[in-house]
Amino acid sequence: MTLVSDPSAPRITLVGATGAVGNTLIRLIEERGFRYRGISLVASARSAGREMTVDGRSHRVHDLDGFDFSDTDVAFFSAGGSVSEKWVPTAVAQGALVIDNTSAFRMDPDTPLVVPQVNAHELDRRPASGVIANPNCSTIPLVRLLQTIEERWGIRQAVVSTYQAASGRGHSGVAELYEASRISLEDHEAMGPDEEFTPSLAFNVVPSIDRLLDNGFTFEEQKMLQESRKILGLPHLDVTTTCVRVPVVNGHSEAAWIECHNPVDREEIVRRLAALSEVTVHDEVTVGAFPTPRTAGHPDHVHVGRIRVSPQNPRGFWLWIVADNVRIGAALNAIQIAEALTERGVL
Ligand code: A2P
Repeated sequence: MTLVSDPSAPRITLVGATGAVGNTLIRLIEERGFRYRGISLVASARSAGREMTVDGRSHRVHDLDGFDFSDTDVAFFSAGGSVSEKWVPTAVAQGALVIDNTSAFRMDPDTPLVVPQVNAHELDRRPASGVIANPNCSTIPLVRLLQTIEERWGIRQAVVSTYQAASGRGHSGVAELYEASRISLEDHEAMGPDEEFTPSLAFNVVPSIDRLLDNGFTFEEQKMLQESRKILGLPHLDVTTTCVRVPVVNGHSEAAWIECHNPVDREEIVRRLAALSEVTVHDEVTVGAFPTPRTAGHPDHVHVGRIRVSPQNPRGFWLWIVADNVRIGAALNAIQIAEALTERGVL
């Protein structure tokens, strides 16, 4: 039981509690024994009045419209960018510290963008904006690996292709993948629904995530560059990406080519990555031993395999990365931010 009467424990509010990330936040609060003094569940008017269970107790879901944050110490927002843009300022004005899962405030200079394993020092004090931003789901596992590589060899460029699961679009993304797959299985010519993913994701790969920018990159690709620079404190870091949606239910993968300033040593890469907390290196070179979204193992670890130094370029090597996008890429990172704030007495 993590509901406590200790007056120093925070009162928490989950905005988007009924969604994929919100549900996972609830499970993680229970699993990790996150101590709280009160919890409020908030979603849209569609869900208001619904009952949800946290730590064995039933809680009624509130409508965000009209919700009062003045009894909230920390609010987790996972209801989409436009909801955060509209309601985070209200929550902050009413006294809550916000941990925001959307891209709405990530590049705001007064808002720290935090991966606790990389830049927890940003949590030493309450931010001026009242908001701490949770990075993009593909950026989080990548920067957790890049930091040690930068420190040891210096990164000249990282070229990354992502293979992103349907759960990145929440419950509705997963539902659409199943429905489109069912329709395509019944009629191989039929594509099925394409509202969340365009064109339809069933038996397909779609090289476009989030909106297209004037320079031909997508916003998802731009987020990976800008956010990696901000988190690592490397304003000139060269990360270039192609972000691709694949018909996987949950778990993002990334193929990363990293070229360093200095020659690298494969055994040392393996040793350094394996020494990172909550990272599992799969270094057996047999086909079944490579991490995949369905078989990687511990859902709270970043999984790395296929570590290969290029025979043509002693400064360059490949990593294959797999991480649970809903946990590591969103809810777990947010909870770990809250845990770090609690340890520091900021919360
Ligand atoms: P609801 O279930 O009431 O629609 P997912 O990422 O799985 O799609 O979940 C999105 C979450 O964001 C859900 O909890 C959803 O609530 C919530 N949400 C979406 N739009 C709004 C809104 N306008 N106001 C409040 N919550 C919203």
